[in-house]
Amino acid sequence: MSAVLNRIEVLPQSGWTGAEISGVDLRHPLPAEHIEAIRQALHKWKVVYFRDQFLTHAQQIAFGKQFGDVTPGHPYEGDAAPKGHPEIHTVSPQAYTQRYGKSYTRKLSANGPAWHADVTPLINPPAYSILRAEVVPAYSGDTQFTNVAAAYQGLSEPIRRLIDGLRAEHRFGANYNAERSDERIGEWVRNRPLASIHPVVRVHPETGERVIYVNPSFTKHIVGVSPRESRYLLDLLFDQIQQPEYTDRFRWKPGSVAFWDNRAVLHLAPRDFEHLNFERVLHRITLVGDVPVGVDGKPSESISGDPFLAA
Ligand code: SIN
Repeated sequence: MSAVLNRIEVLPQSGWTGAEISGVDLRHPLPAEHIEAIRQALHKWKVVYFRDQFLTHAQQIAFGKQFGDVTPGHPYEGDAAPKGHPEIHTVSPQAYTQRYGKSYTRKLSANGPAWHADVTPLINPPAYSILRAEVVPAYSGDTQFTNVAAAYQGLSEPIRRLIDGLRAEHRFGANYNAERSDERIGEWVRNRPLASIHPVVRVHPETGERVIYVNPSFTKHIVGVSPRESRYLLDLLFDQIQQPEYTDRFRWKPGSVAFWDNRAVLHLAPRDFEHLNFERVLHRITLVGDVPVGVDGKPSESISGDPFLAA
């Protein structure tokens, strides 16, 4: 191992998912060897964590740019991004209420939807997400991650063969009736709907792994089958991605950063701090993603919405 690689340490956090990386200072440009080591860790562990990195918005964006082009904070960001930093998507109950309206947070979660990858209704969902903690609860508020490449491999061969050929519609807001909301989220999803047809099994463009590419937040239904068949198939897959062996749970501290491959891992925001009146403020950026491709080599198709490109 080179002297540089000796200083960076990758410590796995569970059997399939998550590794903590130490020996790097994310405030400054990284040497090529560190960038490569982080990329390799992402390919293997799907999400990596860093501690004690007290980044500004600009430093978080500069860190992200070393791994790809940075998108705007969110396709529905509106005026909720911090001034001067349209790339930042702030995650807090207050930010979600401001962005989407009160009923979004009341009905769903004060802090985001169920298991998901970020914004999969887009034709090119972000490749990577980088989330940093500014204010965290004294306890509670962990984020969970699940490795959907391992979850795919955990299915029996006949089921893998069945789902390899399926496609599904992903639609923003569809699974929590946002279309009927009279608040901002309702107006956005009615006037500027975001929806795409993606393969149910996506081939990861860098590792070549097959991953389960549906999620309970955004996947509306499997196309070309009956509603009942779609429901049972999705229930099976949603149950599979939540099996504990594929998951990891990250405890935030101020200065913590989680960096995940949005094509290979799903995440779940916490709901266990809402009744405690704790503050929790995190900031996310996302990197431009590619159009998913299925096992048959066919790309996804857009139903509505533009590609999500660099800010
Ligand atoms: C997110 O969905 O990006 C936020 C995750 C979290 O709040 O833990």
